[in-house]
Order: sequence, then structure tokens, then C-alpha cells
Amino acid sequence: MTMEPNLAVRLGPLTLKNPVISASGVFGYGLELKRFCPPEALGLVITKGLSLTPRPGNETPRLAESCGGILNAIGLENMGVEAFIEKALPPLKAAGALVAANILGNSAEEYGLLASRLAHSDVDMLEVNVSCPNVRAGGLAFGSNPALTAEAAQAVFENAGGKPFMVKLTPLTSDIAAVALAAEKAGAAAVSLINSIPAMAVDLERRRPKLANVVGGLSGPAIKPVALRQVWQCARVLKIPVVGVGGISSARDALEFILVGAAAVEVGAAVLLDPRTPLTIINDIRNWMIQEKMSDLDELRGALKA
Ligand code: FUM
Repeated sequence: MTMEPNLAVRLGPLTLKNPVISASGVFGYGLELKRFCPPEALGLVITKGLSLTPRPGNETPRLAESCGGILNAIGLENMGVEAFIEKALPPLKAAGALVAANILGNSAEEYGLLASRLAHSDVDMLEVNVSCPNVRAGGLAFGSNPALTAEAAQAVFENAGGKPFMVKLTPLTSDIAAVALAAEKAGAAAVSLINSIPAMAVDLERRRPKLANVVGGLSGPAIKPVALRQVWQCARVLKIPVVGVGGISSARDALEFILVGAAAVEVGAAVLLDPRTPLTIINDIRNWMIQEKMSDLDELRGALKA
């Protein structure tokens, strides 16, 4: 008889049925891709970043392919927090999904306002985005600095009414562990990393940038080694869970992140290529565990012999 492995993982106060999470931005508001990947099959669904009021996003083109990855400069197009709570969240929760709302503010006060608006909603968690490379205010301006990250996290902590939150970090800092520790100290239940890496792509013949925004964020397999290193650096020093993000497109990728200490993983760019990828990863993790006679992912987590 084959032993059924336990894929469940803890993320702060939440128990995820498996460690595979849809990264913010690739899964819309959770139901757009349900024909290919039902949101309730995932450990957690993270929705597109929300601002206090709707945003139209950047001019097009907003996406450009690159060797080993993709550049995006969406510019945080979103329906705004009110429409999300009223229209998008109820059907997603009714489907049985565990949901985290990604939020982005231009100031600590805005992060606090977003948190207070979501405090009494049905979201299970918040993901505080201090790392978007595509907007002038907020985003990276907070995430590359431990003190500013702490300020944003503190504002969320004080206004979220006890709702757990994780802070999504940028790789663009000299000491990511220091930023992660600042988030932990300010009350974060977890951190997720990395957001995309600021980058650019140009069209030689047209002498033009490929993105209307000129620069964007690089994601996909090209950034996986960078993410792996920074997840390892954070997992070694934090008490709270670390969620790995960056170029994860297979079960092996996901398992490597768990090996260096990640509690769970977010799948991003790979969903753009094939929206069924998260399901494939969950299934392949299970098969790998059976093959390795592993009953629980805790046996692998942080087991790297470095
Ligand atoms: O441009 C964007 O909407 C990207 C957001 C992010 O990377 O956090």
C-alpha cells in the first residue's frame, strides 16, 4: 500500500493544503483561470496588487520576452480595494480558496488604510508589496530599505485587525536578510521573496525600448538562482516562514526552494506559459515524496548541507 504524503504546510496561523501558491499578478483575481487551475486546489491564491483606488496601469506594450524569462511593466493595473471586496472576493471565497490580497501603497499611511479596509473582509491574509519595480512611488522605494519596510509593515500590523500578513521583498537591496528581519520585527507572519528584478529589453532595429515604460521587472527561470540564494539567506535568520518566489516552473524547482528553507513557493511567470503549471507542480511534488518515501515536507525543509 502506498503511503499518502502530507503536503500541508503552515504559513503563520494558516494551514495551506499544499505549498504551491499563485504569485500576485499572474492569476488575476483568482477565477479567470479556473478552467485550467481551480483556485481551491492551490495552497493559497494571491490576487493582483490592490491600491486604494482603481489604477489603469502603464501604456502598452507591457510585456517583453527575454532569454530565460519575461519582463513586465504592468504598472499595477487593478480594480481598487473596494471593488475587490465587493465583487471579486465573494466568488473566490465561495469556490473554497484560501486567499491573500496583495496591497501596494504610496506611503505608510496608504498601506495602513488598505489594511484597515481589508481587516473586516474575508481575505485570509495580506501580502504587502514593498517591491514593485514599475511604479515611481511606493514599491521599491520602501522595500530596499529596512527602516521604510518596517514603517509600511508596522502600519499594516496596526490596522489589519489581527489579519496575518507577509511582506513581499525586492532582491534590489544589499542585505535582504536585514529587510526581512525588519518586517519580522514589525509583526509580519511571513515574508515572500523575490519580486522581479529591475531590467530592460531593447529593439535593435527600431532603436526603441521593448516596453512603453522603458524598464520593467524580469521574472522566470533566469532569476531562480538569485531567488534561491536570497531565500536561503533569509530562512537562516528568520523565525517566521519564508515563501520562495522566482523562476519556479517545476516540482524540482519548488523542492529546491524548500530544501534551502522555504515554507512554501509562489509560481509566477510559469503560469503565463501554462496556467496548469501549479497543478502539475503539486502532483509532481506528491509523486516525488512517494518515490523518496517522505511523509512530510518538514523532512526536506532547510535540510541543505551547506
Ligand atoms: O507592474 C506591476 O504591476 C508589477 C507589480 C509587481 O511586480 O509587484
